[in-house]
Amino acid sequence: SSRHDLDEVRVLVTAGGTREPIDPVRFIGNRSSGKQGVALAAAAADRGAKVVLLAANVEAAVLADVSERDDVRVVPVGTAAELEAAAQGAAPGADAVIMAAAVADYRVAEVSDSKLRKEDSDAPPVLELVENPDILVGLVRARHDGQVIVGFAAETAEDADELLERGRRKLARKGVDLLAVNAVGWVQGFESAENAVQVLDADGRMVREIGGSKREVAEAILDTVVDELAAARRE
Ligand code: PMT
Repeated sequence: SSRHDLDEVRVLVTAGGTREPIDPVRFIGNRSSGKQGVALAAAAADRGAKVVLLAANVEAAVLADVSERDDVRVVPVGTAAELEAAAQGAAPGADAVIMAAAVADYRVAEVSDSKLRKEDSDAPPVLELVENPDILVGLVRARHDGQVIVGFAAETAEDADELLERGRRKLARKGVDLLAVNAVGWVQGFESAENAVQVLDADGRMVREIGGSKREVAEAILDTVVDELAAARRE
């Protein structure tokens, strides 16, 4: 990109999917590859930003796009708790925060120190889950003046109206400045090279609609971040 509209802007991006351990060898996870978050980090750096990328279980091949750059600091994390600690540590130093990571809403209540063995039980085990903190809501509560916080909403929906409706409800719950709503499904959103998002502002107005490569989606989201940063500076 030839644009330099993020020069000196400090951007915190989260990518990938958290893994919540069951025992030393098993976890509850999700299909996020980290591609969308890495595309955001690379695009922001190309536009001049200093980027911190919190990468939850992102494969080296996906991270390769940013791992050699000195304008992107990659911090690997595993669980939602680790991601939360890293995000709380990095957010105060960020002008913009983009939460593209897929965070587990629940973790296993009691993680076993030894491998759960089939021969030790006569019935299928029942895992008790407890709620994880909502990292994004925590960051919004701690937001400093002028900081722009972008959330994602990954929704399965029957049609475009239901998608937007779910997005708007999530917007209200999270209190973010911008929400990138993407439809997800068995073949859509997670893992694929392409994505389609509608970006809502804090009032629920759709300010961008874009489908294309995850890089193109990243550029469009960053356009809205640039606009928000400019608006915040005027206030
Ligand atoms: O990684 P890829 O394979 O490229 O796929 C990209 C993606 C589909 C994962 C990405 O575009 C995306 O939608 N990321 C958000 C996935 C998600 O967890 O969405 P959600 O609707 O469950 O959560 C809403 C927002 O709250 C997200 O910004 C999420 O990071 C945040 N959250 C959710 C739960 C939680 N406990 N803490 C959070 O901060």
